[in-house]
Amino acid sequence: MDAATAGTDLEHVLLSREQVATRIAELAADLDRDYADKDVLLVGVLKGAVMVMADLSRAMNIPLSMDFMAVSSYGSGTKSSGVVRILKDLDTDILGRHVVVVEDIIDSGLTLSWLLANLSSRGPASVKVCALLRKPEAAKVEVDVEYVGYDIPNEFVVGYGLDFADKYRNLDCVATLAPHVYS
Ligand code: XMP
Ligand code: MG
Repeated sequence: MDAATAGTDLEHVLLSREQVATRIAELAADLDRDYADKDVLLVGVLKGAVMVMADLSRAMNIPLSMDFMAVSSYGSGTKSSGVVRILKDLDTDILGRHVVVVEDIIDSGLTLSWLLANLSSRGPASVKVCALLRKPEAAKVEVDVEYVGYDIPNEFVVGYGLDFADKYRNLDCVATLAPHVYS
């Protein structure tokens, strides 16, 4: 769905479909360069990262593997609880593997820092993070993120995998929601 079709549900578009695509292509080129001689495993964090994963992996030109994890920290609300639960674990043993965690967004950083500790305990050769979006003003913990698409203001956003109450994931841009949608 495009922004025009979503209409008055959206407040404003932060990143157009083109801006997202351009940055994803650049991140893919960075990963191609850095993992040219490594057997890389992309780990997508469901459900938000599905669009990033699909587009990023197809823009990459090196052999790679993909796996997915689902963790929960938000429920259907808009605030991180800091309590993370694994809803779906990896199928892959990452011992000795070069892992890149693919994320939609880093907000407080609580989910990611928990995830990185969890993955690191499994003995991978390396773990890096690639996130399309990051909210620097919302950071509660410092997390090293090697590949960031865009730093955005501390506002709740939807689209390109990001949801509000499980809706708007299929929006092709990144946008804030109009207040009437929340109430
Ligand atoms: P934390 O705060 O732990 O959050 O870094 C990470 C996860 O929370 C979700 N999240 C959002 N989802 N719009 C969304 O639709 C947002 O603005 C937003 N901020 C955080 C997301 O699932 C992310 O992986
Ligand atoms: Mg997520």
